[in-house]
Amino acid sequence: MRKLWGGAFTESTSELVDRFGQTIHSDLNFWQEDIIASVAHARMLGEVGILTRDEAKQLIDGLEKIHEQGPSYLKLDVEDIHTAIETRLYELVGDVAGKLHTARSRNDQVATDTRMYVVNELISLQDDLKNLQGLLLELGEEYQSALMPGYTHQQRAQPITLGFHFLAHFWALQRHGCRAERILTVTNHCPLGSAALAGTSFPIDRQMTSDELGFIAPIPNALDATSDRSYILDALHLCALIMLDLSRVSQELILWSGKEFGFVKLADGVTTGSSIMPQKRNPDMAELIRGRTARAIANWTTLAGVMKALPLGYNRDTQEDKPPLFDSLRKCRDSIELINLMLKSADWQLERMAAGTYGDFSTATDLADYLASQGVPFRRAHEIVGQIVVACVSEGIVLEDLTPAKLKEIAPEIPETALSVLSAAGSVARRNSLGAPGPDAMKSQLEHATQVFNERGFPRIA
Ligand code: ARG
Repeated sequence: MRKLWGGAFTESTSELVDRFGQTIHSDLNFWQEDIIASVAHARMLGEVGILTRDEAKQLIDGLEKIHEQGPSYLKLDVEDIHTAIETRLYELVGDVAGKLHTARSRNDQVATDTRMYVVNELISLQDDLKNLQGLLLELGEEYQSALMPGYTHQQRAQPITLGFHFLAHFWALQRHGCRAERILTVTNHCPLGSAALAGTSFPIDRQMTSDELGFIAPIPNALDATSDRSYILDALHLCALIMLDLSRVSQELILWSGKEFGFVKLADGVTTGSSIMPQKRNPDMAELIRGRTARAIANWTTLAGVMKALPLGYNRDTQEDKPPLFDSLRKCRDSIELINLMLKSADWQLERMAAGTYGDFSTATDLADYLASQGVPFRRAHEIVGQIVVACVSEGIVLEDLTPAKLKEIAPEIPETALSVLSAAGSVARRNSLGAPGPDAMKSQLEHATQVFNERGFPRIA
């Protein structure tokens, strides 16, 4: 296996040692970042006179050629991406390739590549979040008056609307976008030029490479710059949090698409059949998202375990940062897209949902609220309505069945005008406090969500 080191070694490493340490295949995820960082480094070496302008130009031209040709031209019998690119550079520009690594180490190089990769991925992740938010906003608008049961303790609690439910998920994604914004800021600082751990005696210009690569600033301490992986933990944590929320959406789709709920039919394109039961339509994608959330959580704890008590200075242990990073970002971004696909193509069973709000006593609070609005202390109103519920249950009727005569019989102190509040539609229509599902409140919420959505980036909301 080709190596960037070996001058002081008389024996070669075994095949097992090579295989155990090799990362080239997963490193291909950031082959572009590695080239771009090298171009900035070469340019700086030429600008400050560490290399001649001609040497720098040969290096840059070679690196750009490698970029143009793509990773299929790289030889993969090497330890890592840095070796693969340097090896290819030798093939293209000859011995001057050996000057690229002046005033640089793989320690600052890999830290720079990884930070650039995380920045790029977080920006794409934010786009994915925006896309899903856009859909949730559309669905929120479209179904703002579609009645459905709202749950607490997984028991029917109070009627809401499907649109209101979609907006709840919209705001959760907004928080993730804000988190990504904060992580972008901490990540976007430049380790390049820190070399192995203690900087270099060459008169490099770290500000120049930092600016060229679009970083906010060079990291002030070379030892910190080569040792820190907390921004990866941040990114892993974000992916885990997003997956947790996506697993909750998935759980809803799994439950709601079952016969017991019957609230939604998932499209053929996002479901799978059974090899034995011809009638089956399984919500596998939602189940996989739910299952893979475990991996996203584990990826964070894996790297936290690697970093715990790790002495400052580069340690090879930190090579273990990237597989979880690639895995979490890929899974998280795919899952966002899959949720998008499932929601977009779903057939919402509106009648079935609305029917679910009938006869479940979920307007009992409205009756108590009505009495309280007439001057009855709420605690007393709660008691009276509790007795009405018990009476209805023992007579085998539901709240909506109450007639003025029946009400008089059960609770003579309640005026019959109270009956007007017992429908689910009426209940929702009256709930117009800030953040509630009533039509006026929903109109304001939709306006707020639209305004936040149309802003560039993710303004903090809660
Ligand atoms: N594959 C290594 C990593 O990801 C690159 C840095 C290697 N540095 C070293 N001193 N062995 O961490």
